[in-house]
Amino acid sequence: MAGDRARAKDGAMIARTLLIPIGSLGLLAASCSAPPQPGEAEPPAAAEGSSPLQVPQSLAREHQEIHETLARATREPGELGKTAMVLEQALAPHFKREEEIAAPPLGLLPALARGPATAEMRAVLPMTQALERELPHMLEEHGAVRDALTRFRAEAVKANKPDYVRFCDALAAHALQEEEILYPAAIAVGRYVDSAAPKP
Ligand SMILES: [Fe+2]
Ligand SMILES: [Fe+2]
Repeated sequence: MAGDRARAKDGAMIARTLLIPIGSLGLLAASCSAPPQPGEAEPPAAAEGSSPLQVPQSLAREHQEIHETLARATREPGELGKTAMVLEQALAPHFKREEEIAAPPLGLLPALARGPATAEMRAVLPMTQALERELPHMLEEHGAVRDALTRFRAEAVKANKPDYVRFCDALAAHALQEEEILYPAAIAVGRYVDSAAPKP
């Protein structure tokens, strides 16, 4: 599909952008990056003395914990495991795209709160522009995630698995927080940097 190809092309471009060193920002340590997904190549290390634009540690951890709980749930027997698998399939590509275009711009927030926007911060613009374009699709994906979540939660209730019920409620809150705060904040970062950062 042309849209998918465009997204993939944007993703490749943005993945390269992620590796642009913006060391002068003093952003996040290398340990903050999201771990590569199975089958993905490890990204090249950043040049010494520089930090790439990265997913904030708190968000990377939250996604990782969700993946781990869901991976465990997919191994459950019967409908519980099957509905967990459907949820995982809805979630995995969505999280990957978030980690490419929606989460890294938020890594600029501490630096923007401390000081002025810099020319180097313009490296964020391909991500935030892609996020603005893809926002309707990402919100549609949240709809698919919520549908899958509802079915998995019902199976968790039936199987008397309160841990998974709590997980579902936390995942629903995660999606709502993105819609209310994180996606708009990432877009606002891009618009601010575009208007305030010096052009190189
Ligand atoms: Fe997310
Ligand atoms: Fe999301």
